[in-house]
Amino acid sequence: MTATVERTPVLPPLQIGPITVETPVVLAPMAGVTNAAFRRLCRESGAGLYVAEMLTSRALVERSPESFRIIAFEPDEVPRSVQVYGVDPATVGAAVRLLVEEDRADHVDLNFGCPVPKVTRRGGGAVLPWKRDLFRAIVTAAVAAAAPHGVPVTVKMRKGIDDEHLTYVEAGLTAQDAGVAAVSLHGRTAADYYSGTADWDAIATLKQAVTDIPVLGNGDIWSAEDALAMVAHTGCDGVVVGRGCQGRPWLFADLAAAFAGSDERIRPGLGHVAHVVRRHAELMVEHFGDWADEGEGKALREMRKHMAWYFKGYVVGGDLRARLGLVSSLAELDDLLAELDLTQGYPGTPAEGQRGRAGSPKRPHLPYGWLDSRELSDEFRAELQEAEIGISGG
Ligand SMILES: Cc1cc2nc3c(=O)[nH]c(=O)nc-3n(C[C@H](O)[C@H](O)[C@H](O)COP(=O)(O)O)c2cc1C
Repeated sequence: MTATVERTPVLPPLQIGPITVETPVVLAPMAGVTNAAFRRLCRESGAGLYVAEMLTSRALVERSPESFRIIAFEPDEVPRSVQVYGVDPATVGAAVRLLVEEDRADHVDLNFGCPVPKVTRRGGGAVLPWKRDLFRAIVTAAVAAAAPHGVPVTVKMRKGIDDEHLTYVEAGLTAQDAGVAAVSLHGRTAADYYSGTADWDAIATLKQAVTDIPVLGNGDIWSAEDALAMVAHTGCDGVVVGRGCQGRPWLFADLAAAFAGSDERIRPGLGHVAHVVRRHAELMVEHFGDWADEGEGKALREMRKHMAWYFKGYVVGGDLRARLGLVSSLAELDDLLAELDLTQGYPGTPAEGQRGRAGSPKRPHLPYGWLDSRELSDEFRAELQEAEIGISGG
């Protein structure tokens, strides 16, 4: 007879407006990564909230085909979580209205975390909350558009421009006051880019300041243990996981187990990894099926970057790795996967730890005179419009 072990959940479910997320874990929006195919793999493993790739409010309002591909959810994907990036309150409001009036989203996240120079140079992304009035106006417009349809709006942000120009506590309080359903903080400034380690103390500070809505912590969760450690360190109500699940969608199973109080973890051998890679590729082919008549080519080109993530830490020859990184069809992928030693077990530490984007600090490019005032002047208003063109990612 086996005894049933009663496990105590580490945290209660996460409540984002009307949405209850049983496991308080969010897949961080990642441009070029968290499309419907990748989200399906994550969803099959765990029980969190999975945010789609970011889209810009202007592209959505202009009904660009790419933004409609981003918000094309599979019928069983509930809730449908969309992230919008925008710099103009009216356009963000219009984009959110489109999403809710056409019943295309159940949750809208607003991106104030992008550190990319071409965006910050115009005053967008992670440096936007510096302009208090603009930040409040964008968030208020989004909430006003979403509220009649009961769709919660959340805010995702960084700590600020740099250590001398922090905005996160003020922005968190503004967001709470404006009716946002939760805020998440990536514990880095725009200047930090992806360097160093995320500042979990800042997440603790935000949690103490913002008391009426959930505060989610983000940055450097590479394992379920890291997620538990962040919760213990910060008191946050849930965690947002980005790079840690690149090439490891099964991390969501570990996270679900950990938050349920279990120490079960998935330690895949190479055969299992190969199986997931193949399935990911198939789902990508479905996802890009109608891509300019060459869906399979596009899908496999998109798979290339995932290869290094999937095989991190496993013994795979340099030549085979290189060919996996240039794969261009499902048939070729099958041939390459057949060359792997599928009996190889889980390598342990080499497969764990940091993966994906890293790099050194970068002094943020800002519009000239941006730091002189906390309010938006007309001179910046026009420049800001340019901060929404051709942006992708955070
Ligand atoms: C490839 C990539 C794309 C990203 N795209 C977005 C994005 O579109 N929107 C956003 O808010 N953050 C974006 N981010 C930032 C992540 O959502 C997350 O905040 C960041 O990676 C820190 O979390 P992590 O340490 O768990 O990776 C991106 C990050 C990466 C690595």
